[in-house]
Amino acid sequence: MDNLAIRGGRRLEGRLKVSGAKNAALPILAATLLPEGTTTLRNLPHLHDVTTMIDLLGCLGVQLTIDEKLAVEIDATTIANRRAPYDLVKTMRASILVLGPLLARFGEAQVSFPGGCAIGSRPVDLHLKGLQAMGATITIEDGYIHATTDGRLRGADIAMETVTVGGTENLLMAAALADGTTVIRNAAREPEVVDLAQCLNAMGAKISGAGQSVVTIEGVERLHGCEYSVMPDRIEAGTYLVAVAATGGKIRLDEALPEHLEVVLDKLREAGADITVGKNWIELDMGGRCPKAVSITTAPYPGFPTDMQAQFTALNTIAEGVGRVTETVFENRLIQTHELNRMGAAIQIEGNTAIVTGQKSLKGAPVMASDLRASASLVIAGLVASGETIVDRIYHIDRGYECIEEKLQSLGADIRRQPGKVVAGDIT
Ligand code: UD1
Repeated sequence: MDNLAIRGGRRLEGRLKVSGAKNAALPILAATLLPEGTTTLRNLPHLHDVTTMIDLLGCLGVQLTIDEKLAVEIDATTIANRRAPYDLVKTMRASILVLGPLLARFGEAQVSFPGGCAIGSRPVDLHLKGLQAMGATITIEDGYIHATTDGRLRGADIAMETVTVGGTENLLMAAALADGTTVIRNAAREPEVVDLAQCLNAMGAKISGAGQSVVTIEGVERLHGCEYSVMPDRIEAGTYLVAVAATGGKIRLDEALPEHLEVVLDKLREAGADITVGKNWIELDMGGRCPKAVSITTAPYPGFPTDMQAQFTALNTIAEGVGRVTETVFENRLIQTHELNRMGAAIQIEGNTAIVTGQKSLKGAPVMASDLRASASLVIAGLVASGETIVDRIYHIDRGYECIEEKLQSLGADIRRQPGKVVAGDIT
């Protein structure tokens, strides 16, 4: 199992291109199960989770061709299998996203029940309730969700109890091929949901209102293939902005959409960064200053993203003042704070809030990543700490950050990947 060795203390400076968004690529890959014909996807990030989704499509019988620029041609005409096996689902919870498309197109699907993970119990009850409202029969057998429908799914009026990104996406895909109109109320408004809806519309779906809390889907008889380019990754962009801000540095991000990062950019300005934006670029300049502590509370979009919480917690550890970080989306997503304290941070947990008292400096230490964004926060801490930090279990990072050490090296960081000892894996 590789680890990342970081010698902190360098001010990061440079220019980066943001990769395609993991959280848009995964549902869009699942959506390629819906059309008859070939879909060509561009700007897919080169990530472990994307490979897992491609493996899952392959195991369902989909024909895939990947060119050297990672454009993927996907033909789901020849699906032989409607079962998403435990071995793949256990490594990536987003595998549940094939449930809606398989059921809508073939009238049946079996998907291994995704378990909990490091950041919380993460149930899928709302995905299932929504599909049941559309006429699906769902049973749980041998750890698998078995979903069937008599004929086609039927349009329904579905009010989601909680805002769920994956739940909204699964139902959007299922409703695209249902008989009649589906209305999803209290839908997730994340840009990745909008990206999926745009891709489905390019396949011939009739979806309106994506990005608002009420989305209407008029089911169509069939969908056709299309060409689609995945949106840039707002969380990757935000992570590099925070990393550079923490070191007092300067960066220009290309292929970054500022409209997706408004709250994050506001918080970085509050922390003392000068930020300039264009249509698809963002520049941040910290001018060598030490950041000021900022308080955040996570919430569904357009609120502060839970996927940026750990990175801001790391920023606060070396900021001037005290920042309060409240996590409201997942129940167990402050775990990285214990590792940060081992590096000299002063973080106290009160319920779902981390109270972070900024310190003059952190000290490098061996630390262990527990989930994807937590591992990004440990890398940020390593970049500002004195001495060497070894971040172990970086398979989490490879799930969501393309070539992280190369991108950071290009900004001047002293970071390298090195082989480490084998550890037992945990699942997220
Ligand atoms: C997606 C993102 C993840 C991000 C999260 C919240 C992907 C691949 N992952 O995850 O990076 O952190 O959105 O922005 O896009 N819930 C239920 N029942 C359900 C479904 C969800 O109670 O059926 C709860 C969850 O436990 C959680 C909350 O709803 O507390 C939000 O989860 P959800 O939006 O579904 O997250 P994911 O789609 O899994």
